[in-house]
Amino acid sequence: TLRISWHTRFMRIWRHLLLWLLQTNNYSVFESALQLISHLIAVFPCSKYVTEEGQRIVGGVLIGTGLWIAVTFVMRNVLKYLLSWHGWMFNRHGSLSLTTKIWLVLVKVCSGPKPMLYSFQNSIPRLPVQAFSLLFKIIKSRPLMDDEQYKRMEGLAKDFEKNLGPKLQWYLKLKSWWASNYVSDWWEEYIYLRGRGPIMVNSNYYAMDFLYVIPTTRQAARAGNSIHAIMMYRRKLDRAQIKPLMVLNTIPMCSSQYERMFNTSRVPGVETDVLQHMNESKHIAVYHKGRFFKVWLFYDGRLLLPREIEQQIERILADKSEPHPGEELLAALTAGDRDPWAKARSQFFSRGKNKQSLDSVEKAAFFVTLDDTEQRYDPENSVQSLDSYGKSLLHGKCYDRWFDKSFNLIVFKNGTMGLNAEHSWADAPIVGHLWEHVLSSDPVRLGYTEDGHCKGNPHPNLPGPQRLQWDIPEEGQAVINSSLKVAKALADDVDMHIIPFNDFGKGLIKKCKTSPDGFIQIALQLAHFRDKGKFCLTYEASMTRLFREGRTETVRSCTTQTCDFVRAMMNDKATLKLLKVAAEKHQDLYRLAMTGKGIDRHLFCLYLVSKYLGEDSAFLKEVLSEPWRLSTSQTPLQQVDLFDIKRHPEYVTSGGGFGPVADDGYGVSYIILGEDLINFHISSKHSSPETDSHRFGSNIRQAMLDMLDLFQFDNKASNK
Ligand SMILES: *[C@@H]1O[C@H](CO)[C@@H](O)[C@H](O)[C@H]1NC(C)=O
Ligand SMILES: *[C@@H]1O[C@H](CO)[C@@H](O)[C@H](O)[C@H]1NC(C)=O
Ligand SMILES: *[C@@H]1O[C@H](CO)[C@@H](O)[C@H](O)[C@H]1NC(C)=O
Ligand SMILES: *[C@@H]1O[C@H](CO)[C@@H](O)[C@H](O)[C@H]1NC(C)=O
Repeated sequence: TLRISWHTRFMRIWRHLLLWLLQTNNYSVFESALQLISHLIAVFPCSKYVTEEGQRIVGGVLIGTGLWIAVTFVMRNVLKYLLSWHGWMFNRHGSLSLTTKIWLVLVKVCSGPKPMLYSFQNSIPRLPVQAFSLLFKIIKSRPLMDDEQYKRMEGLAKDFEKNLGPKLQWYLKLKSWWASNYVSDWWEEYIYLRGRGPIMVNSNYYAMDFLYVIPTTRQAARAGNSIHAIMMYRRKLDRAQIKPLMVLNTIPMCSSQYERMFNTSRVPGVETDVLQHMNESKHIAVYHKGRFFKVWLFYDGRLLLPREIEQQIERILADKSEPHPGEELLAALTAGDRDPWAKARSQFFSRGKNKQSLDSVEKAAFFVTLDDTEQRYDPENSVQSLDSYGKSLLHGKCYDRWFDKSFNLIVFKNGTMGLNAEHSWADAPIVGHLWEHVLSSDPVRLGYTEDGHCKGNPHPNLPGPQRLQWDIPEEGQAVINSSLKVAKALADDVDMHIIPFNDFGKGLIKKCKTSPDGFIQIALQLAHFRDKGKFCLTYEASMTRLFREGRTETVRSCTTQTCDFVRAMMNDKATLKLLKVAAEKHQDLYRLAMTGKGIDRHLFCLYLVSKYLGEDSAFLKEVLSEPWRLSTSQTPLQQVDLFDIKRHPEYVTSGGGFGPVADDGYGVSYIILGEDLINFHISSKHSSPETDSHRFGSNIRQAMLDMLDLFQFDNKASNK
């Protein structure tokens, strides 16, 4: 894919140059060089066979190529140098300094027009290893320690800085010189692939459909359009025609996470799983009522059209055959613990038709579930309907999604749909990008006929879907059953709550001159304190894709300043000033995280090095042992231009969510939609006496409203 963008760009420039050389008779720029080249050519023995015109062309090509290589090389390095500056991020909100403006123009010039998905990959800087001082400054500002704990921590930190630290740091520096990102490969392996517990709920996350509109109630038609839209996205991806994500429309983010979106499955192993990516995959795997099907997406050398895919799905829905023994619950293996799955896989699925069928699933472009339940947001019963819908996307029945697949498209019986995505291959914004494309294509560009079918006609002689064959022995079924038991206990424990918060949104928050994300994070702090009567270490995910192969960094969004504000709030003494200070601190931490100056990934890597070296560090153990009892993440809306939020506010994704991260903690995912809507997806565990997602939900709503009140109250006061 990298080659494609390189190649097309090269061809374009090259063609222009040739044309120009041939069309004009004025060679002044190149004349001397050309003469030199033709002299050179004349020296070669083959020159007698080449006409003068031919020599000129060859000369032009050589000069063109040389010039092109030189210009690209220079531009790329200048761009790389420019991009390693992050001062632009520290501009005050809404105003750009002169330096930044000049810098932006330079970046634009070096970027060239119409960048493709991987155009910038070689210009994006590497993530540097930070010095300790910064690391410790942030740890020390942690508000959750009393004086005694703080003293102890300081002692440990100083000791680490003097003794073990520098050695570990040296190894990390070494790694950062040869690895394209010193964090990401370890992060993928240790945080995701080595995890031995279930990935369902604990790691996979989901994305939801439109909230208020469902374009068709026909399950097969919805599947037809969305599968087609996904395949169109894959084609764009293969051709690198997706515009890379760019901050301020200019500063490129790394695109490497897109590479394994399709044709990918996580394959269980005994110590660690691996990601298996196929360079070829022309079918999807479909699950319906206990049966697995393989559906070819190409016929006659072209991609099936929406109505043709609908036809294939209709055939599956009409198929009344019974599941083979063990087939119905088979996917529960991907929902339970990893080790039993790895063993069962090599014991029962490494030969014969079981292997063939498993291959068809794992090597599919992606996985589709035709769910036999109905889900939909029901305004009459909004809490219960959304909670059930969210839970269904997160875990379903535990055996009707293939959790190992890079993503599952789930289409419900009444036409609602959603995604469930595996987490190791990429982070949520990547899946979100695909999902935005699908949602914006589905009702608008592809559309439906009046009676709810996909547009177009069925194909008269399309071969039908292929039913996958399984022969699963009793022992294999027993493993499936015990995986299901583990998964079911986990799924039943999930307390999910989704709130479309529409009292106010980004529009009003911006009027308060606060960053929307900061505002929401502080509201979450206030809500959490009211909910549990205490503060807790808070995780907010931010992107580090300004660096090559960057993934995420943690923003520790519970700060001394947010605590001060919350305490004041609790005593009715809160002021706008306290809120502003807290919001500014949050912005600051967020910027540090984005620009590679966060602490958590660095600490994580230091810890791994210490493990490799067999050294124990009391400091690292202690810093890393505290659980994240509040884990939060904003889903950014990336392609705003795809949606006409002003005219059609209903045609927009309602975001997605993830399961609880700590046993007695909350997970909160939120998406800011247009000016007036924020969707919160809250999760926790029923088994914890400390948490209750619905209670936390009403605390969040109240906190948001109370904080807004503060502005109006203060406005009035200052007006007097
Ligand atoms: C896929 O990879 C295999 C093995 O690396 C190679 O033989 C094959 O040609 C590749 N196919 C495509 C379509 O690139
Ligand atoms: C997936 O398979 C398709 C079809 O064989 C191939 O064209 C494409 O390059 C693969 N996509 C990725 C992202 O590897
Ligand atoms: C599914 O959609 C149908 C048709 O719009 C609707 O009547 C039904 O209530 C929906 N089911 C659920 C569970 O919301
Ligand atoms: C597995 O569970 C299914 C459904 O509950 C049951 O019918 C089957 O007998 C069980 N198989 C084994 C081997 O335990």
